[in-house]
Amino acid sequence: MTDSVDPLMVDPDNGIISREIFVSQDVFDTELEQIFARAWLFIGHESQIPEPGDFFNSRMGTESVLLTRDSEGEIHVLLNSCRHRGMKVCRYDEGNTHDFVCPYHGWSYSTDGTLVSVAGELFGVPHYRAGYDRKLDRSQWGLIPTAQMVNHHGLIFATWDPDTPSFDEYTGGFRFWLDNLAANTAGERGRVKALRGVQKWRIKANWKFVSENFLGDNYHGPTSHSSVDAVGLGPGGKEAPTRHGDNKKPRSIGSTSFFDLGHGGVTTAGYAWGYPEFEDENMTTYFQQRWQQREQRLEAEDRPIGGLGPSTMFPSMSLHAGAFPRALIVAHPVGPTETEVWRWFLVDDDLPEDIESWLRRWYLRYSGPAGLVEQDDMENWDYATDASTGTIARRYPYNYQLGLGMASPSEVLDDAVESSYLMTEENARNYYRRWAALMSGASWAEIDQARGGK
Ligand code: FES
Ligand SMILES: [Fe+2]
Repeated sequence: MTDSVDPLMVDPDNGIISREIFVSQDVFDTELEQIFARAWLFIGHESQIPEPGDFFNSRMGTESVLLTRDSEGEIHVLLNSCRHRGMKVCRYDEGNTHDFVCPYHGWSYSTDGTLVSVAGELFGVPHYRAGYDRKLDRSQWGLIPTAQMVNHHGLIFATWDPDTPSFDEYTGGFRFWLDNLAANTAGERGRVKALRGVQKWRIKANWKFVSENFLGDNYHGPTSHSSVDAVGLGPGGKEAPTRHGDNKKPRSIGSTSFFDLGHGGVTTAGYAWGYPEFEDENMTTYFQQRWQQREQRLEAEDRPIGGLGPSTMFPSMSLHAGAFPRALIVAHPVGPTETEVWRWFLVDDDLPEDIESWLRRWYLRYSGPAGLVEQDDMENWDYATDASTGTIARRYPYNYQLGLGMASPSEVLDDAVESSYLMTEENARNYYRRWAALMSGASWAEIDQARGGK
């Protein structure tokens, strides 16, 4: 494993990125160390663990972690690996438990991660009295917690690194998109829930293809999704000139990203996403009313409109913050050419049942392994990865020069740049600038200093 990568591999200023970073095992190993062990990563949604004892088996980088709610109602993120010999203490996707009892030798942990300390020979630490002569310090051998955790209006994030800048600092202006994701269609923050069941599947592609796709790659849409646009895969089942069925307003007017924080999104501030027109008039009325309430609320709270379309929070979480479909996706690294993709679908927490059921079907038709639009994307990611692994192919870098030098500072969001032309790779260049900063092995203080202490 290398400790850092050759800076020449990534040259965002000139729009040149080596293919090596998409196929090399050395680069991948360094990513696990320098990015996934340090960055803020999305763990799950609070609505997945509403009751004490609830847990959701999540993932950070290549490692399994447990998102739990303990008996006091506190939320934890814990490494799912027994401190005795490393066995996974929980192999269920989700559920409710009093304790996690390791299937190997029986060490037991409560849902806050503590190694249980009770009298008795077969619970807590089996044979604690006779075998360990009561000398094992159980307080030192609980499940490993993450160094930092945050609950952002129901969205749970965590990092293993105590030195990682605070969540607010790390996300910067990108919280605009996260706030919209965490808000219902009427704009109330913390009023969404995850639909039961996270879709999980593997693709033969580098994980960065997924993040980059949602970051603001408007360039691929007309080519890659022309078939779903042609059939009018709109949500409403009504006249649908695009796959979104939005025939009222333009889809987006550009893209926004954050210099060297790495995050970026499609829609710029100040732009309201149009609602689709549905065959069922009740649905049209429902969403029209919600959208109006949203605009009024945002205006009253002095929150900018917009920020509803596709976006990516560095490094590996992408989201559709409020438009149709409303979902988030995490690209978990497995190997340089393999990724495990997880999709959550979000809805308002007080949605009428028939609309929720309709949305569920629409989401599945659009995204995820069975979604027609996601299938278009996956085909590109898989074939691009495969065609970049060859000896000859690896000698030639990718081109990221679309819209080079054409971005300007945002008037709405701090530290952001906007590209007013719909097609640009500005967001991707900024993403790889952040990627290179972390991969250099520099400390957070050094990275911050290089950013001018911004
Ligand atoms: S590995 Fe868990 S108790 Fe031994
Ligand atoms: Fe796409």
